[in-house]
Amino acid sequence: MITNPDSATATGLGEIDRHGARIGVDDKAMINSRADVNQLLPLKYQWAWEKYLAACTNHWMPTEVGMQADIALWKSRDGLTSDERLMLKRNLGFFATAESLVANNIVLAVYRRITNPECRQYLLRQAFEEAVHTHTFQYICESLGLVEGELFNMYREVPAIADKDAWALKYTRNLEDPEFTTGTPEADQSFLRDLVAFYVVFEGMWFYTGFAQILSLGRRNKMVGIAEQYQYILRDESIHLNFGIDCINQIKIENPHLWTPEFRAEVRAMLTEACELEVAYARETMPRGMLGLSAKLCEQYMRFITDRRARQIGLDPIFGENENPFPWMSEAMDLKKEKNFFETRVIEYQTGGALDWD
Ligand SMILES: [Fe+2]
Ligand SMILES: [Fe+2]
Repeated sequence: MITNPDSATATGLGEIDRHGARIGVDDKAMINSRADVNQLLPLKYQWAWEKYLAACTNHWMPTEVGMQADIALWKSRDGLTSDERLMLKRNLGFFATAESLVANNIVLAVYRRITNPECRQYLLRQAFEEAVHTHTFQYICESLGLVEGELFNMYREVPAIADKDAWALKYTRNLEDPEFTTGTPEADQSFLRDLVAFYVVFEGMWFYTGFAQILSLGRRNKMVGIAEQYQYILRDESIHLNFGIDCINQIKIENPHLWTPEFRAEVRAMLTEACELEVAYARETMPRGMLGLSAKLCEQYMRFITDRRARQIGLDPIFGENENPFPWMSEAMDLKKEKNFFETRVIEYQTGGALDWD
């Protein structure tokens, strides 16, 4: 066991203590643990290991999905309305850089602060999946012949996208300071805020309007290749989200002093703000209604999702929105049910037990 209490303990790259006692399950903890992070076994958090296994059984690559129908539709003169084109481009523009932001947060902020090897094992897998997702947007951009500078700069140039990304980045920037270490209530709360911002808000709320937009195109047999890729991304993201929620809840159990009434109020305010940012994004991507979607329905959906996320981390609902205007979204996660829905080649990947997580 490494006993050096400096920050090298948390990284797993400190001095080896040749005479230390062997570690037991009880030595392991989510944050601020002194137990050797290089030793996966004995496992303490079965939920983290199960998610790692489920994620591996969900492996996919974007290039395995045929894009011929999408290319033909995109290039046709009247296959898509101008509203549909605007929504699609802004949707792709949001995701194209969002996946990289999430990956950078995992690798540069979260991984170092989580002092548990089974959670790190999952984070390594998640980081790879974010690379696959970024690859998806490169592949779509290339297939459709989109202007890459336009797509990859939307996160700076489209205000509603820039506002969301800037909101999340301030929570990770806080942790980027080389002097930052967990171990005080203030620093540990700062880390929890980052987990809320990226797992609950970014991956758990903001991705969902985007999924609803593309899947509703797919349901109308439009851009079916992209819709199929989004289904795989959605399946991955639902595990990312649930991993983040399990992390937050486990840190709360181990550190109840962090979950103060003031902190809970602050997290609720974060979720409320994030919902407002998403509603603004829905308006900017869909100035008019289409495909059974509208900014108003997206607002209701986001309130429903926000309440669900609040409950998942032990908070009271914020909006009291009990009705999901897009009930088909939960079905869209079950790839087997949708198997013959799209006309593209559907690859039946081994799905493990991942599909009941939304
Ligand atoms: Fe992703
Ligand atoms: Fe993700």
